[in-house]
Amino acid sequence: FSLKQYNTFGVDVKARKFISVSSKKELRDVLQQAYATEIFVLGGGSNMLLTQDVDKTVVHINISGIELISENNEEVILKVGAGENWHQFVLYCIEKGYGGLENLSLIPGNVGTAPVQNIGAYGVELKDSFKSCEALRIQTLEVETFNNEQCEFGYRNSVFKNKLKGQYIITSVNFKLSKKNHELSTSYGAIQAELDKHNIKKPTIKNVSDAVVNIRQQKLPDPRELGNSGSFFKNPIVSETEFKKLQQQFPEMPFYAMQGNQIKIPAGWLIDQAGLKGYRKGDAGIHKNQALVLVNYGNASGQEILELSKEIQEKIYQKYNIKLEAEVNIF
Ligand code: EPU
Repeated sequence: FSLKQYNTFGVDVKARKFISVSSKKELRDVLQQAYATEIFVLGGGSNMLLTQDVDKTVVHINISGIELISENNEEVILKVGAGENWHQFVLYCIEKGYGGLENLSLIPGNVGTAPVQNIGAYGVELKDSFKSCEALRIQTLEVETFNNEQCEFGYRNSVFKNKLKGQYIITSVNFKLSKKNHELSTSYGAIQAELDKHNIKKPTIKNVSDAVVNIRQQKLPDPRELGNSGSFFKNPIVSETEFKKLQQQFPEMPFYAMQGNQIKIPAGWLIDQAGLKGYRKGDAGIHKNQALVLVNYGNASGQEILELSKEIQEKIYQKYNIKLEAEVNIF
């Protein structure tokens, strides 16, 4: 079974077996019949690089549904199936007037995998609207609930990427969204400029969503047209002391100050300044508009993309003494 259509890099690897499940019951049935080590869980396939055939049963999580759990004048709580497409869900919220996710418009992938890496963009992260999630523990087949704190969210990080890695399958996510007095976050990146361009003085959540969609479409390749997995690397975080040293050598280096005297440096800038933007090796390449995105021009193998990523890591380490860490999951 080819997984080419099931990973946004469009890498053509084979799975031993492929099963799509559309309910918790179906998921349990499948897990009951297989050893945990024989299972490979697949959501939207938008944050992974497959470098070889998957000699396992691929379980595709296709659990759908958006359910209203509770609401008052101010807020609403929605329960959303893990298999719902992320952007379609964001658009649903915009249409209903529910605020909180507008900055996260157009992120590829599904709702169930969004908490795993605490997706984020333009100053907002999933954790800001996340209430809880249900996850099936593979070992016991019991469903457990994780609240926001228990998920231990961090920058592109959660408990599901760390100590509970591979142990749970998220089946649904509850979001807490605002119904009025939306607190818009427009200060990050190009959002304000985009609003100004359209002469929007009092933006709505729809305006912010449209702005984000426009910015993303200008910079980021559409996976349906050019295989990619969004940012391939995390933005590296260094101490203030380290950053001061770097700044002496590279005074133009952009940065974001973080809590605890930490400095986040845009990896896209580092790669760009190393002269690698637009670089191509066979069908694997570095995107011409956003150096943080690796792309598959057609028939690149996962191995070729991985090798390109290593070459980048090597060059960045030599030039800046910074170790870039992959943001996508490599299998
Ligand atoms: N830059 C360059 N050259 C490039 C790319 C970026 O000089 O080729 C510079 C930009 O000029 C800017 C800075 O680097 O000064 C940051 O670039 P940008 O605002 O495009 O954001 P990013 O740091 O590259 C992060 C997230 C994105 C998210 C955007 C917007 C990570 C790893 N990536 O990218 O998330 O959409 O901010 O908030 O944190 C993703 O995770 O897949 C993703 C796309």
